[in-house]
Amino acid sequence: MANEFNMSEKAQEIYKQIEEFCEKEVKQQAMEADAKEGDILDIIEKASKLGFNALDVPKEFGGIGLSKMDSVALLEKMSWYDAGFGITISANGLASGPVVIGGNDEQKKKMYDIILNGGIGAFCLTERNAGCDASAGESRAVRDGDDYIINGKKCFITNGPIASYYVVFAMTAPEKGAGKGYTAFLIDKKVDEVEGMSIGLVEDKMGIRNSQVSEVLFDNVRVPASMRIGEEGQGFKLAMMTLDIARITCGITAVGICQRALDEAVEYAKNRVQFGTALANNEVIQFKIADMQMHTAAARELCKHATELYMKHLPFSSEAAMAKCVAGDAAAYVTSEAVQIFGGYGFMHNYPVEKLMRDSKIFQIFEGSNEIQRLVIGRNALR
Ligand code: CAA
Repeated sequence: MANEFNMSEKAQEIYKQIEEFCEKEVKQQAMEADAKEGDILDIIEKASKLGFNALDVPKEFGGIGLSKMDSVALLEKMSWYDAGFGITISANGLASGPVVIGGNDEQKKKMYDIILNGGIGAFCLTERNAGCDASAGESRAVRDGDDYIINGKKCFITNGPIASYYVVFAMTAPEKGAGKGYTAFLIDKKVDEVEGMSIGLVEDKMGIRNSQVSEVLFDNVRVPASMRIGEEGQGFKLAMMTLDIARITCGITAVGICQRALDEAVEYAKNRVQFGTALANNEVIQFKIADMQMHTAAARELCKHATELYMKHLPFSSEAAMAKCVAGDAAAYVTSEAVQIFGGYGFMHNYPVEKLMRDSKIFQIFEGSNEIQRLVIGRNALR
């Protein structure tokens, strides 16, 4: 095992467990689930029993408290096996982010207890008219005594149908605009345990089909004021700060896809004989492999760099955006080249690179499209 992330001993142990688990439970099953309708809930439950959903729960809350670098390294490995699996697990980090950054100890304990019991979360920000323009959300939260009443429709919510807790963003003061009008709430329950909360459309997607994505609907949902995360009006900043971190994990998931595509292409090129020699003996294929490896390595290094800055409490917003953007573009490029090397076979469902190419596309779109990442980087550079 190449320890490119300088993983701790504990993380190296877990890396081996992940490899063993994924070889047995994910590799083949993910291909089969992708062809049907992408339900890998039983795999997620088994993975959660082994604690793969709880890698960075801090020790003071009963977790093993791995460093961010460790959990990023492990996420690349999970995503190598299946990006839908990786995203399901990493969306837990996205959902927990606002509580980690702005929540109080009671909220953290409630959330970490759920995670340590195998639960995963959902981050409910996006709406039909508020995707890239996250500030355009129309969901409302109105104070009513000791509660807030939430109404609204969230869409494209990763883990929507399977989450055990939800972090929801809604306007408490629309007249102040998103920057000061959004507030975040923790709902520490499954959807069917909350009156007025339901799952709408479950999306049928091009790629990462093993990640469950749906609408989450709020119809007069009562949330105790004690579950408000931070102060009223802090929601947008909590969302943005969380997305900064999530862009690193999104990037490393894309790196997992790149590495898998590269490994599959190398193996194929060594074994496929055309014109009396292995594909690998042709310079044109060697150059393709070299380019694929360069893009993969560069994307990984950017993810590591952003993680290092984050761990040192230094500004990392631009670097996280770079990591996500470069890794998303790399995944689209590397998987397309892998399909090219596989030729006609690469186009067929029963070879893995076709799925990798479909899986890769969303990494240029979600958690802020790559145009948004460029906007973040450009704005910061010109500030
Ligand atoms: N950290 C802290 N604060 C930040 C911030 C950051 N990274 N980015 C912005 N802010 C603050 C600003 O300082 C500003 O504060 P003040 O009002 O006090 O000055 C406030 O937030 C508003 O900032 P902007 O004026 O820059 O906001 P904007 O409307 O121009 O939007 C944006 C900026 C970068 C385009 C933002 O809307 C954005 O990131 N969009 C993409 C949204 C996104 O990633 N969505 C993905 C959702 S998750 C998902 O897809 C997956 C899933 O499973 C749900």
